Amino acid sequence: MKFSTKAIHIGQEADKTTGAVIPPIYMTSTYKQEWPNQHKGYDYTRAGNPNFYNLEQTLASIEEGKYATVFSSGLGATTGLISTLDSGDIVVAGKDLYGGTFRLLNSVFNTFGIKLNLIDTLDLNAVEIALKQKPKLIILESPTNPLLRISDIPAIIAIAKKYGIMTAIDNTFATPYFQNPLTWGVDVVLHSTTKYIGGHSDVVGGTLITNNKELDDKFKFNRMSIGLNPSPFDTWLLTRGIKTLAVRMEQHAKSALEVAKFLEAHPKVKTVYYPGLESHPQHDIAKKQMRGFSGIVSVEFDLDLEQTKKLISSFEIFALAESLGGVESLVDHPASMTHASIPREERMKNGLNDGLVRFSVGIEHIDDIIKDLQSRLDKI
Ligand SMILES: Cc1ncc(COP(=O)(O)O)c(C=O)c1O
Repeated sequence: MKFSTKAIHIGQEADKTTGAVIPPIYMTSTYKQEWPNQHKGYDYTRAGNPNFYNLEQTLASIEEGKYATVFSSGLGATTGLISTLDSGDIVVAGKDLYGGTFRLLNSVFNTFGIKLNLIDTLDLNAVEIALKQKPKLIILESPTNPLLRISDIPAIIAIAKKYGIMTAIDNTFATPYFQNPLTWGVDVVLHSTTKYIGGHSDVVGGTLITNNKELDDKFKFNRMSIGLNPSPFDTWLLTRGIKTLAVRMEQHAKSALEVAKFLEAHPKVKTVYYPGLESHPQHDIAKKQMRGFSGIVSVEFDLDLEQTKKLISSFEIFALAESLGGVESLVDHPASMTHASIPREERMKNGLNDGLVRFSVGIEHIDDIIKDLQSRLDKI
């Protein structure tokens, strides 16, 4: 079965009791039992719900994995993953990790004895040195948020396998439509389903997907024990959003390339970061491991900080807002918004400058998107 067919049909069979084509929302916290502990597979929604189960079937299938566990948010999923480690374990991660993931590891899990080692995952030598020290886990993001750096995922997995290190990839930016890291042997794929998978900026969620049953059992046990479960309504919304993921991603990627090319040619632009541009330093790796380059474009304008802030607050189509991956275009200032939790010095060291702007290119008509950019840039 091809991607878009799986996205529409797997885990979404018609309701057995009524024939409803769309499975209903099981808005219940608890389930009637026939006898103590005799029930139809569900006892309490923190532990499980048919809407979680349906979504998990779909997610596992489109990510080419066997098992998925859904969580309350992307960071809920990261919590589910890190909670399987022990005090004293080391986690290796890329230097330009999403700010919230950095904060979770650096300001919460550090107090439970989990140590974080940030490295440049573009440098395979640095990866080799870090993994030789036997950390428990390496978390990669590729493309990264917000600099859209591309790590050579198969090469890093090969190094990790040599040293027996568990691998996890945050595949939020690429989406399962453009990249399936489980097929290269990664242990866990993580998504903030808040983004492209939901696709309509109306739900917050996350997931962990794996081929390892033992790991999946731990994720589900920890979700129930910590209380990291999503709501039935949110999982139903995500199931609904996934059905159009393929067509949305085609359009996001097409429009993002046009935006990237338009901005690259604009005199008020210094640098454009988009893995689909030939000028992107890891364009060749991206071409090798991705089937498309997704919908995020980051830009440094040839403007001072105040002018940049004025520009990004003035768009008509691009709403100045956190998050990304919805059908509507958004613009973000990482230094003061999504990545403000990373100390400035740390940010600057990793190339995340104060002037960097991140565009999430939506699926409005491309002429209107370009007109919005052009007219606001003309006024600055
Ligand atoms: C790459 C990436 N991973 C994880 C997250 C965290 O997801 P959530 O906001 O759903 O907790 C985000 C959020 O922006 C993200 O961009």
